Amino acid sequence: MRYFTNVNDIGDLNVALQEAFEIKRDRYRFDTLGKNKTLMMVFFNSSLRTRLSTQKAAMNLGMNVIVLDVNQGAWKLETERGVIMDGEKPEHLLEAIPVMGVYCDIIGVRSFAGLEDREYDYNETVINQFIKYSGRPVFSMEAATRHPLQSYADLITIEEYKTTERPKVVLTWAPHPKALPQAVPNSFAEWMNAADYDFVITHPEGYELDPQFVGKARVEYDQRKAFEGADFIYAKNWSAYSGDNYGKVLSKDMDWTVDSEKMALTNQAYFMHCLPVRRNMIVSDDVIESDRSIVIPEAANREISAQAVIKKMLLSL
Ligand code: CP
Repeated sequence: MRYFTNVNDIGDLNVALQEAFEIKRDRYRFDTLGKNKTLMMVFFNSSLRTRLSTQKAAMNLGMNVIVLDVNQGAWKLETERGVIMDGEKPEHLLEAIPVMGVYCDIIGVRSFAGLEDREYDYNETVINQFIKYSGRPVFSMEAATRHPLQSYADLITIEEYKTTERPKVVLTWAPHPKALPQAVPNSFAEWMNAADYDFVITHPEGYELDPQFVGKARVEYDQRKAFEGADFIYAKNWSAYSGDNYGKVLSKDMDWTVDSEKMALTNQAYFMHCLPVRRNMIVSDDVIESDRSIVIPEAANREISAQAVIKKMLLSL
């Protein structure tokens, strides 16, 4: 595997799941595969889970790991070509990327959407520059439009907890004080569609996602109706995608918070969220602390999804 930015890069999902479960049974089985190989993790944005789980995954495979926080200690990077660089950014990404490439064998990149220019974000300008100019295999640690390591971990988690072959999975928008990218819901939708679950998306009007990600999902504007009979509730906030509202917060309606009254409408659904989560905005304390909340096993599976992807990349070097 040379690149991992979306669900298509992983290949057959059943095979990907079997590989993940094999790693989970013995995560140290390939602990010399990465000997004398270096992973560079480049962060343009903050992280807890991605940083820890991906580093742990690489260490399980025997790799060396370099972590670069671009906005803390490195030169500030200009990302747009054609800019007269007379401002605060002394280095251009177009030099920095190939330089990073000479010090490592594989690169992971985290670069969120700026939420100002939809075309720039949806062209995945930053991670595509890494793919083009680094000379190395590149994987996404959350890019502008997708978070595939998270979605892969979400899929592993659902497969572990489901009790029917084709569970009802509901992605629900929930309120948040700040504008967040669409990467997690886009990506989750992409993977749920690929898994062919009974998949429903619920959100207030105005929060429609890009149709390429919605795919064959059913969109239901009545959250309570969407929750009926659900086996999994996946909560997430996102900002508006459509037209002039791109990147805007249109609603902070607390009636969309996931609480125990709404969870009672489900088929004893498991509660999921990628974390970090704003309690009592996205989800009530009692729901996230309940025995149906699987946010911690979900986070634990981030190590497994990262290891599966890095292992595939090491095998292709
Ligand atoms: N879910 C997730 O990606 O968490 P971090 O932002 O902490 O890495």
